[in-house]
Amino acid sequence: MALFTPPVLVGAVLVAALVWLVARLRSADAAVPGPALNLVSSLPLKYHEFRGNRTQYIHQLHRTYGSVVRLAPGEVAFASLPALKEIYMSHGSGYDKTAFYHLFRQYGTPTMFSTLDKQTHSQRRRLLADRYANSHVLKQDALDGIRARAHNFTAAAARAPNQTLDTYIALHSYAFDGVTHHLFHPFGSNALQDARDEAVMREVSFDNSLARRLLEYYFPSGLPAKVADKLGLLPPARSIPRAKQIVLDAVDTTLNSAAEQQKEGGPRAAEFTLLARLQDPALGLTRMQMAAECMDHMAAGIETTGDVLCWLMWQLSLPSCRGIQDRLYAELRDNSDPAKYDGLPYLHAVLKEGLRMFPSIPMSLPRHVPAGGRVIDGTWLPEGTIVSCQPYTMHRFEEDIFPLPDTFSPDRWLGADPEKDAEMNRRFFAFSNGGRGCLGKHLAMAEMKLLLRDVYMQFETVLADTGDKPADMSMSDQIISARPKDQTCKLKFIPRIKKESV
Ligand code: HEM
Repeated sequence: MALFTPPVLVGAVLVAALVWLVARLRSADAAVPGPALNLVSSLPLKYHEFRGNRTQYIHQLHRTYGSVVRLAPGEVAFASLPALKEIYMSHGSGYDKTAFYHLFRQYGTPTMFSTLDKQTHSQRRRLLADRYANSHVLKQDALDGIRARAHNFTAAAARAPNQTLDTYIALHSYAFDGVTHHLFHPFGSNALQDARDEAVMREVSFDNSLARRLLEYYFPSGLPAKVADKLGLLPPARSIPRAKQIVLDAVDTTLNSAAEQQKEGGPRAAEFTLLARLQDPALGLTRMQMAAECMDHMAAGIETTGDVLCWLMWQLSLPSCRGIQDRLYAELRDNSDPAKYDGLPYLHAVLKEGLRMFPSIPMSLPRHVPAGGRVIDGTWLPEGTIVSCQPYTMHRFEEDIFPLPDTFSPDRWLGADPEKDAEMNRRFFAFSNGGRGCLGKHLAMAEMKLLLRDVYMQFETVLADTGDKPADMSMSDQIISARPKDQTCKLKFIPRIKKESV
């Protein structure tokens, strides 16, 4: 037993550490630029993730080290068009997702979004895709519900005390109402008019479980989370009982109506909705699979659309953007047909610039290098390496394509140079790209344009002078999306007509 004396054990540990270090130094990611510490430890990256600062950390690494950076052992980020095409678009859907996406299971059930391998994913996507095609989103029944919600928003602004509205709340309510209309009308929410539905929206939007969910992901044994809990270091677990219930109620009511002959004509999801498609017996989905898919799209639709609109309206309300608002108003006034919200070049440019500067999913979208390894934009990486691009950096890094990247300038999308436009569009990554890109993009664009059109046709918006400290609008990363840090944004809505007649 003299074999296990303390000096022998220490020696064995040192040799093992040395072998590991040599292996790290000879690994493929050792050849990738990045901080030395990140070659041997994922702690710097995790530190920033837990602080809700992953996007900015990676962005700064790109600024320091260039378009390819080492984030952690076996994890590399890119900020170039060839890498974006390879990772997200090669063979249609790009590389498979990492186990990180298991965090997005709903009711413990896999969804299209949380499916890792592309075969299973593409089967599900093919079944649902037509519900989100632009031609489908534009159908009258589908669009009328969104228009009605945009009207509810402007009505709320018009009657707000002191003309001041917390747009963070109102825009997330709008996004909630809009997406649930598309998912399961007539069981959609009415959060802009009904405080009970607003409470459901708050449950989802004010979730504060980032640190807990990351701990559970990195340490599936659950022990660190339990210890942190005992020490009172963690906020409560994600809890969205009311949101879960409204989805289950919509699914159950529709299924019951469909099943019972006597309820023919009874309440069920309208023909244009996602739920109507999901409950088609030919798809063979279980009740929980339907609910999980609806829940996933509902959450995707509330945060993303609500956050982009909130940042964009805040930006437009800054004194420096008064001219932009006036130009937008002029275009809207000259195209006053309420049916017209698409095909307005300046409105489109304003929204596109909002999505460029404030992509509500700004963070890197992790994928695995497939079997056999791959060369990505000139860098060889072995199978299993986690690789990604992040929208925030794709929209800013190449300053010859996006000059003055931190300046809000809708004009950049109105350029007369088609080649330059094409280069910007190829790098536009707010909705991701390829076969796993955003399915709800056309719905989101319609919702955002209808809202902006209705608001800026009727109002000028300015930052409300509430006497409080200005809200912190910087990006706070969540699991994959980001939100304005303080989750409040008070704007004053000044009616245009009144202003013009003064
Ligand atoms: C401004 C609004 C939105 C933005 C910026 C956005 C962005 C994105 C991004 C970047 C992805 C890919 C994420 C990844 O690969 O990890 C995605 C996927 C997805 N989005 Fe959106 N989204 C928006 C609105 C919506 C809406 C309104 C819906 C509708 C219900 C929706 C439904 C989905 C779905 C279902 C997926 C998964 C697609 C798949 O797995 O094939 N999104 N979105």
